[in-house]
Amino acid sequence: MVRLAVASQKGGVGKTTLALNLAFSLARRGHRTLLVDTDPQGSIGLSLARKGEQPQSLAGYLAGAPLSNMILKTRLQELHLLLTGEVSPLDIDTFARSLASPHGLDRLLADAEEHFDLIVFDTPSGLGSVTRIVLEQSSHVLSPIQAEPLALRSIRQLLDLVGTLRAQGQPLSLVALVLVMIQMRNEASLAVAQELWAQFPEEFLVETLIPRDPIFLQASTLGVPLSLLSRTPPPQASAFERLAMEIEPRLGLTCEDAHEGPINLLV
Ligand SMILES: Nc1ncnc2c1ncn2[C@@H]1O[C@H](COP(=O)(O)OP(=O)(O)OP(=O)(O)O)[C@@H](O)[C@H]1O
Ligand SMILES: [Mg+2]
Repeated sequence: MVRLAVASQKGGVGKTTLALNLAFSLARRGHRTLLVDTDPQGSIGLSLARKGEQPQSLAGYLAGAPLSNMILKTRLQELHLLLTGEVSPLDIDTFARSLASPHGLDRLLADAEEHFDLIVFDTPSGLGSVTRIVLEQSSHVLSPIQAEPLALRSIRQLLDLVGTLRAQGQPLSLVALVLVMIQMRNEASLAVAQELWAQFPEEFLVETLIPRDPIFLQASTLGVPLSLLSRTPPPQASAFERLAMEIEPRLGLTCEDAHEGPINLLV
């Protein structure tokens, strides 16, 4: 089972947006996906919780409930959610300790193993205790990079942490640095993109760019992936389909109907 953490040193850069939309796209491509929100501020849950109190949560799971009772079904059969649940700001250390305990992420991974091909972890901002615990249990990490000045400075800390974990023997690989909130008509934004392309080897980069667009705010207010904003998905949603296709081989995920060679156009 692939364990993909979406993480970044900086806050508010689009981690939750990326985790939710990418999990949706990968699930739509047939991979049985569990999206786990590990942010004590409950980013994915926040907007969903407004639609009614949601007792099923990671917090409930950590308190001993079975996984099957805590995960939420979605419109897509292949996508399930595990929301953070109630974690008071004063209890973050306790939350982190229970995640790190044998009854925490270790048990979660074991319980999810036979039901899912992929777990996507949304993490809190920064590389603090919760993010670190998640990274220690992950096989892959993906980081959104905001195409805005100073954004590149924070990449180093994430790369150092990945390097440290690898040196300790953990097979953690950086899947990609994904440029998000890019503004093609803004020179400063394009300059950040160019700097990223110049500084990092191709294997850390992807062709897909996520544009800055007000539609993202609309989607995150409703707590839905862009694809579910309307019956006909907005064109911006296609970026995540493309990203899913691009990183699938890097994650070692194969599509069930993967077909060798071209297919006849005529039937
Ligand atoms: N491509 C985009 N264009 C415009 N707005 C965006 C884009 N991606 C995300 N946003 C908006 O930016 C805000 C922050 O995004 P998001 O919550 O995904 O970031 P985050 O890194 O998870 O934040 P945090 O560090 O607080 O967890 C949200 O209001 C979201 O709607
Ligand atoms: Mg978030």
